[in-house]
Amino acid sequence: MSVITNIEDLRVLAQKRVPRMFYDYADSGSWTESTYHANTSDFAQMKFRQRVAVNMENRTLKTKMVGQDVHMPVAIAPTGLTGMQHADGEILAARAAEKFGIPFTLSTMSICSIEDIAAHTSKPFWFQLYVMKDRPFIERLIERAKAAKCSALVLTLDLQILGQRHKDLKNGLSAPPKLTIANILNMMTKPRWCMGMLGTPRRNFGNIVGHASDVSDMSSLSSWTSQQFDLALSWKDVEWIKRCWGGKLIIKGIMDAEDARLAVESGADAIIVSNHGGRQLDGALSSIAALPSIVAAVGEQIEVHMDGGIRSGQDVIKALALGAKGTYIGRSFLYGLGAMGEEGVTKCLKIIENELDLTMAFCGLTDVKKVDQHILIPGTY
Ligand SMILES: Cc1cc2nc3c(=O)[nH]c(=O)nc-3n(C[C@H](O)[C@H](O)[C@H](O)COP(=O)(O)O)c2cc1C
Repeated sequence: MSVITNIEDLRVLAQKRVPRMFYDYADSGSWTESTYHANTSDFAQMKFRQRVAVNMENRTLKTKMVGQDVHMPVAIAPTGLTGMQHADGEILAARAAEKFGIPFTLSTMSICSIEDIAAHTSKPFWFQLYVMKDRPFIERLIERAKAAKCSALVLTLDLQILGQRHKDLKNGLSAPPKLTIANILNMMTKPRWCMGMLGTPRRNFGNIVGHASDVSDMSSLSSWTSQQFDLALSWKDVEWIKRCWGGKLIIKGIMDAEDARLAVESGADAIIVSNHGGRQLDGALSSIAALPSIVAAVGEQIEVHMDGGIRSGQDVIKALALGAKGTYIGRSFLYGLGAMGEEGVTKCLKIIENELDLTMAFCGLTDVKKVDQHILIPGTY
């Protein structure tokens, strides 16, 4: 294997090592994928002002997200089925994040359960909640997250209906994978992945199977899930969840200034400007393009975070320059995980840290908390 120096190297290796069905699940967007691609290409348009002869000693990337110390303003985004990119994927990514000093967010639709992550980590992690019709189940999930000492709840509002990803339909995406001839042939070319999966009992939705009523196996799970996302979700539900949870609440999936104002009124501590990594409304703005108007609307009242398209430390600092107080990575860490397990996630974080640190210095700053739009060339953002 050649030397890995950037996130693209991790992506290429993940593509070799992860079965097609799960690699495609990560590396795609909805419909024409225009928003998915805009998430990265809009970052590429933005240009830095390079500064020289500025003292670059004693640099720091340390800051806070929702009042919690972070080694750099980057958290691991919640991603479903992460334990299918690599055996025990959520545990491995949570461990890498903990050692690095950044937040790990566990998805409702994870393979490893809340309790699995709590048993394998020692610092608090964050839990992401989808609102299901079965409210007693939601209350139990919140109680489980409290019992696991999760230090923030990330409430995702942009997936009550599902954007269509063509490849997932064509591949017949499922967890565990259906053993069709095509899948078996493809998995036979991924021996590391197969060995890992054979060595773990965690191959199903750990937060749901055995916890939701009437869900005990795969077929009951898929019909339960397809009926459970609550189409009638409203801001009243958000307030109810805020009361049930009682701790730090981060609302994810905000792309509009008006919704951002409503999120402030609902009592959230932070919002994430996010289009779900281009997986939901194809044709929506990229997250980085949506960020400035949302920061202008609510940035004084609430912490604004963002995700979507971050593949480097340069992308992180561009988001900070436009007013984000924190960022999240989805695919970047998934590629690391699929490529090399925990070591790959650590590699991903180190790559981003190094790029962020050097870019900040090139722009003439030594403290990440001081980054603002002055580091950017006007007219490029
Ligand atoms: C494979 C995959 C699964 C995802 N699953 C979830 C999920 O379960 N819950 C959620 O809130 N967001 C989910 N997301 C969205 C991410 O949290 C995040 O918004 C997105 O990945 C950011 O874009 P990026 O991948 O370009 O960094 C998922 C994204 C991917 C790529």
